[in-house]
Amino acid sequence: MRIPLDRDGDEPLFRQIERWLRDDIVTGGLPPSTRLPSSRALADDLGVSRITVANAYAELDRDGLITSREGSGTFVAAPVAVLPHVPVSDGQSWPLWQREIRGSAVEDIAPSRHPHPDLIAFTGVGDPRMFPVNEFGRTIKEVLARDGTGALEYGAFDHGYGPLRETVVQLLASQGIHTDARQVMITSGSQQAIALTCQALLKPGDTVLVEQPTYNLALDLFREMGLAIVGVPVDEHGMRVELVEDLLQQHHPRLIYTIPNFQNPTGASLSTARRRRLLSLAARYNVAILEDDFVGDLRYEGRALPAIKALDHVGQVIYVGTFSKLLMPGLRVGFLVADGPILEGVGVLKQVHDLTTSPLMQRVIDRYVTVGRYQTHLRRTTRAYRARRDAMHNAVREFLPSATVAPSHGGLFTWLHLPGPVSTKTLVSHALDEGVDFAPGHRFFANPTDGEHFLRLNFATRTPDEILQGIQRLGLAVDRALEQRPGS
Ligand SMILES: Cc1ncc(COP(=O)(O)O)c(C=O)c1O
Repeated sequence: MRIPLDRDGDEPLFRQIERWLRDDIVTGGLPPSTRLPSSRALADDLGVSRITVANAYAELDRDGLITSREGSGTFVAAPVAVLPHVPVSDGQSWPLWQREIRGSAVEDIAPSRHPHPDLIAFTGVGDPRMFPVNEFGRTIKEVLARDGTGALEYGAFDHGYGPLRETVVQLLASQGIHTDARQVMITSGSQQAIALTCQALLKPGDTVLVEQPTYNLALDLFREMGLAIVGVPVDEHGMRVELVEDLLQQHHPRLIYTIPNFQNPTGASLSTARRRRLLSLAARYNVAILEDDFVGDLRYEGRALPAIKALDHVGQVIYVGTFSKLLMPGLRVGFLVADGPILEGVGVLKQVHDLTTSPLMQRVIDRYVTVGRYQTHLRRTTRAYRARRDAMHNAVREFLPSATVAPSHGGLFTWLHLPGPVSTKTLVSHALDEGVDFAPGHRFFANPTDGEHFLRLNFATRTPDEILQGIQRLGLAVDRALEQRPGS
């Protein structure tokens, strides 16, 4: 065997032999099962000591590249076999513990099984075509150049990246919330903030008071946690707080979950008077308020209303916000503001759930905001979404004249009431056939038999032209659903 050796170089001879053999094995020059010379024979061949060859073989053996068989010599090992994929189970033969796992309460919101070549979906969050991809890429590079591996370590397991918490304090000041970075915790999206708050505060069987309708995945979360859900109807000024006191007396909830700005799904905002009244009721009946401000900054007209947290001087309110809607949902960065022991309670749960929210993303968002890119993006987005909201309202007036549109001055959604016999649950499949998708109303009600004559349209994801076309299609879908009603 000829192995060129550099006898005057720095690399030990056994390493050179090992490297040469390793390259040959890995590239197939020495195929599996090839018999290698004995260490004595190779040592004689190369003019080195036997121990040098033995050391080289030992390294290759340790890495599984060669094997020695007692009495027959040393061979190139077979590569690790790549096993063909065999499905783990046909579903019938899962272990018992697998079969006992109860199905998820989360409704299947997978993409349609009726693919339309150019489906106009009024679902989702923001318009990915407006995501600031290049600017964000530049910000990631800047952060990595500035912080190096520091951006890629866990960081301290406290309540998040300090500078981002300071930045959140600045952003919140514009909502009238005067807080301190010590009261701010960064979370993996506001969904995590909601889930951890519930976990810290509630146990199965406890009651939560919610707006009716409300954010479907909050409802799913409450159901998963075994909570009893009591709904308070919503009108154009948000939750009908005048009904709350009776419900507090009747159901003794431990938490009130509210989305006071541009509520999901109705778009309604809770009036300032109702915010004050809700806070005082919560204080009187010793109930926590979870204020979910998921799109508070996306205001198209009028003045911002004070956050309930801004009116709270005793630690009654847990406020959650997110960078998902104004920036991008895939960042998975949100935040929670709370005073008192609840903050520590949530902090401990946060740590055992996911250790920390991505330290890289926290730094990148912080830089994106502090260099002013966020504010520019917010202005651009607000302008575009306002035009889309208007286009949606106009298109509904033109193509769905019987529908009632809930007024909204910000956010992402148009909430429609469709009077008449058509259920929006059945309308979905007609709409998909026509090439338009929406969220049917029942998803947003604690009792899914409610809401069948409502639907939610996300106007933010589509251009005005697409909105016009999509609502025209929805009008056709309603006609078709009416024609195909049994007995019509
Ligand atoms: C009202 C509301 N709150 C919270 C969330 C959760 O958002 P994220 O976890 O992305 O911050 C959503 C998402 O759609 C929402 O609509």
